[in-house]
Amino acid sequence: MTTATTENVKSDNPQLYEFKNTRARTLEIVQPLEKEDYVVQTAVFMSPPKWHLGHMSWFYEVIMNQIDNSYEFYSKDFSRIFNSYYQSFGQPHDKAKRGILSRPTVNETLAYYQLINERVEDFLKNRIDENDINLIKMALNHECQHQELLVYDIQHLLASTYKPIKKNSLPHPPKVENISVKVQGGLYEMGYSGKDFCYDIELPEHKVYLNPYKIDAFPITNGKYLEFIEDCGYEDFRFWLSDGWDAVKKNGWNAPMYWEKEDGKWLRHDFRGNLKFNPKEPVCNVSFYEADAYCKWAKKRLPTEAEWEKAACWNETKQKKTIYPWGDEPPTDNHANLLESYIWAPSEIGSYPQGKSHYGCYQMMGDVWEWTSSEFVGHPGFKSGFAEYNDKWFTSQKVLRGSSFATPKYSIRNSYRNFFRPDDRWMFAGFRCAENV
Ligand SMILES: [Fe+2]
Repeated sequence: MTTATTENVKSDNPQLYEFKNTRARTLEIVQPLEKEDYVVQTAVFMSPPKWHLGHMSWFYEVIMNQIDNSYEFYSKDFSRIFNSYYQSFGQPHDKAKRGILSRPTVNETLAYYQLINERVEDFLKNRIDENDINLIKMALNHECQHQELLVYDIQHLLASTYKPIKKNSLPHPPKVENISVKVQGGLYEMGYSGKDFCYDIELPEHKVYLNPYKIDAFPITNGKYLEFIEDCGYEDFRFWLSDGWDAVKKNGWNAPMYWEKEDGKWLRHDFRGNLKFNPKEPVCNVSFYEADAYCKWAKKRLPTEAEWEKAACWNETKQKKTIYPWGDEPPTDNHANLLESYIWAPSEIGSYPQGKSHYGCYQMMGDVWEWTSSEFVGHPGFKSGFAEYNDKWFTSQKVLRGSSFATPKYSIRNSYRNFFRPDDRWMFAGFRCAENV
């Protein structure tokens, strides 16, 4: 009975189905938290879980207001506190001080969450306009982004104290060789080519010329990264960009974030606790500067985002692009380690052979986001699709591609462009190298 009802909603009103699914997943992430956990801000770059919950709900109000300007926001105070950076909705509350607010309470924020559910569900039952649906899809994608940020922030806040309600074990793939694959040069049509939702920054499709290149079949592992550390990588300025070297000195970096040295051994501190790291897992929680320095040490370079995208998208045999590295089939647990895999950590290289790209690159989706050398700017011919969402960040950020073990399935695609500042490293980011041929 329940399944039949769910299936009916799925086919009759896919947005409503996806909305319910997405909202339920957010509650699933926060369910293991104690009340006290919701309020604490452990660093300026993270936000308390309560803030994420309120902000996700508030953003649906922004969208409903955009669609229907007679829509009235629930509360002026909530709109100020849960506004992230949208100047058009007034002066937001200071990001660095999100953790000092005991009000609204957690219960009030959860009640607000339910109230917004009701309002959006009513809205979705009555709306059919294509533009409106696209805006709702954007709010769903926005919630997916915050689910992932929530996971980063919960790792920072609680690490192994967090007990997720679902947890699966890591796959154990056979040993693989660290190889690179060759990608042909020539003109490549970059950007989103599908008919479903994408962000404005993935458009328009446009031609780029690429020289032939080689790209690693796997992300760089903890084991490979340790070789860089042991070869005095963090002590030799010659590997580092000037700003990167400044960041090393200023922050006292000597390893990726969450690595700690105990009795001469490197341990990684994450959802699994304090473990000797697995040398076969992709390195995670590195900044752009560290990724770039490693590449220089290895006498390679980071791929541009066009190179990354072609290696993920292009099917040389069929002469067409695909939505995911493995093709157009929606992701399953056999393709990639994503949020719904409930693994809560990167998986060893060579996992997910069914998810490799036509060129033979593994794990381009899931596990860790991958830094590219590209600046985050609009594609040529860019048109802003939504004020203050993406394009106000077109400065001092680098593009990352792929997705991580905390990215929801709903929001992944080969053309997705993530972006962070070059010294950020609390998100689940790694990299793979490229070479000229
Ligand atoms: Fe947001």
